[in-house]
Amino acid sequence: MNDTVHQLRCIGCSRVVAQAEVRSDFRCADCGELFEVEYPGWSSAPASQAGGLTGANGHNGSSQAAVLPAVSHSGPRAWMPNASALRWLWKERRHSAQSIDQSGVWRFRELLPILEKPNDAVTLREGNTPLYGMPRCAEAAGMERLMAKHQGMNPTGSFKDTGMTAALSVARERGFDWVACASTGNTSAAMAAYAARAGMRSLVLIPEGKIGWGKLSQAMDYGALTCQLRTDFDGCVQVLAEIVQRYPIYLLNSVNPYRLEGQKTPALEIAEELEWNVPDHLIVPGGNLANCSALGKGFQEMKHLGLTTAVPRISVIQAVGANPLYSMIASGARELTPVHADTRATAIRIGNPASWRKALRVIEQTGGYCEQVTEAEIAIAKAEIGREGIGCEPASAVTLAGLKKLVADGRVMPAENVVLLLTGHALKDSEYTIDFHRGSLLGAEEGRGFEASMAVMRSTMPVLDASADAVLRELEAGVRS
Ligand code: F0G
Repeated sequence: MNDTVHQLRCIGCSRVVAQAEVRSDFRCADCGELFEVEYPGWSSAPASQAGGLTGANGHNGSSQAAVLPAVSHSGPRAWMPNASALRWLWKERRHSAQSIDQSGVWRFRELLPILEKPNDAVTLREGNTPLYGMPRCAEAAGMERLMAKHQGMNPTGSFKDTGMTAALSVARERGFDWVACASTGNTSAAMAAYAARAGMRSLVLIPEGKIGWGKLSQAMDYGALTCQLRTDFDGCVQVLAEIVQRYPIYLLNSVNPYRLEGQKTPALEIAEELEWNVPDHLIVPGGNLANCSALGKGFQEMKHLGLTTAVPRISVIQAVGANPLYSMIASGARELTPVHADTRATAIRIGNPASWRKALRVIEQTGGYCEQVTEAEIAIAKAEIGREGIGCEPASAVTLAGLKKLVADGRVMPAENVVLLLTGHALKDSEYTIDFHRGSLLGAEEGRGFEASMAVMRSTMPVLDASADAVLRELEAGVRS
């Protein structure tokens, strides 16, 4: 890889390292903090100048040529993209026959120049996910309108694919045979799939019995060495930290900064879909706390380069049972105290999130909030998202549950343009969904105060005699209710 195009900067002490110098655990040798990818050629380009908004109108053939010098980031001249030409090029690529152009990550490759040979990227045509209108959820939250960017509509059913195509491609370019992650399920499914595509081997560490079956079955189907450890996610992370010191295996958890370069691209897609405007507010679930900062980076870079003129507020929602960031902020502390995590939204069952500093930074820089929501609030919100004909996994539903709280106390106004980031597909955790509709998901204590709201969201599944009369009786009862 070309170190003049990108470098890694520690978010703790600002130390800069070339990509080849970074440790196998992606932590700074001086202060132990995490890195982020930085493009030195962009750094001196003020947002006000960098836009080139008066450049090519985006519809003539020469605009592609106007964009191409973008690959030359080195040297004293800051990269000043022609924003209109870039927008045109990114849109055009959607009609290309090349897989790299069809990818919703790599069609934006000018903004993530992390590969020596982008044409060799390992891609499953990730990204290009829908931004849905959510009228019923808007009403439930007290909003005039609401949108959801559904990252569950990615090839393996979660937002992890956008990060995995980026970081696994780096692993392959660097000559690794093995890749590894600790996971609550979605990272492992994505990593296993992309490793299989690339002909690489993958090692998955997951907490025994604590991940959705859909996710476990994916890792197995894609051929990962899938080890269930008798611990939680945080314990799996610790074991893997030792493994990467002792064995030449490439770490693909979200401490790997290249993951975030891929995960920032939904921000570009959202802006593109809104005709290069940004929403007022983006609401993201918080687990290991990397994704919120990836999206923040995407929005901040777009503004810096003159592609957009604003950055939305970015808020992070945690489950009450896995709320270390919420607790830290609420108590006024500046250091995170790990918690013992427990929530049925297993994807975010994380007590010691690696990227909390990045998350705190993006919340503070964008004026966002951190909220927490209960198990009952998550379950109801998930059912409401299901009733939109969309559905999502439990961890994604914290966004709607959190939005309701932000609206209720005036932190979000009903007329604002809000986007919920739905991170995982409904089929990832069908047991949760069935338990909810059967009424067996929550204990009495957890559901207290929400019984009526849950009852109206429940769908029934009667077992009937095989007769039209029996079915019609149910139908008529349904019409009356
Ligand atoms: N939503 C889903 C569906 C997830 O799988 C995760 C994280 C998150 C939200 C939280 O994102 O960690 O960037 O704050 N899942 C990881 C995994 C930890 O192993 O699949 P985050």
